[in-house]
Amino acid sequence: MISISKVVLTISILLTILVALQFQEGESNIFHKKRVFVYITSNITDAQLGVHCREKDNDLGLHNLNFGETYSFSFRPVIFIEAKLYFCGFSWMNELKRFDIYVESRDDKDCKGECRWKIDKSGPCKLKGDDTECFPWKPNNVTEGRQLGEENSTLTM
Ligand SMILES: *[C@@H]1O[C@H](CO)[C@@H](O)[C@H](O)[C@H]1NC(C)=O
Ligand SMILES: *[C@@H]1O[C@H](CO)[C@@H](O)[C@H](O)[C@H]1NC(C)=O
Repeated sequence: MISISKVVLTISILLTILVALQFQEGESNIFHKKRVFVYITSNITDAQLGVHCREKDNDLGLHNLNFGETYSFSFRPVIFIEAKLYFCGFSWMNELKRFDIYVESRDDKDCKGECRWKIDKSGPCKLKGDDTECFPWKPNNVTEGRQLGEENSTLTM
């Protein structure tokens, strides 16, 4: 007969192993995919570019870039949770624009772990080998922001 305490012990050991796997810093644990690097380079010549990115509860802070300078961050997508989303505010002079800089369904295949963006005033351009694909800024539309889980006015620069 299996005693209750043995069952409890077995469950605690399993939980401990799972938690340990979850937190291990190796590049391949069972809950995370390969690390993704995002590089954001300013292609704006006549002004400093402010870049402020965040994921739901993870604010990466404001970073100022001169022309040609690059800001980068990395993260590890969690398995089963699609569309890891980092949204960014971009500011220069009196402008403030928004863009979702990492959307798994859009970027996973293209980037192969390294997403390189150049930021123009007209919008962000994704470098794909020798090609670039440029995107429009996100419309300044509160409804859309809410749909994406962005809270009202949380992305102030
Ligand atoms: C960077 O800016 C230059 C000058 O405006 C432009 O010709 C070039 O296409 C831009 N590069 C990218 C990747 O957007
Ligand atoms: C905002 O976005 C929603 C959904 O994308 C759209 O239906 C609506 O017309 C937009 N509003 C404005 C003012 O652009």
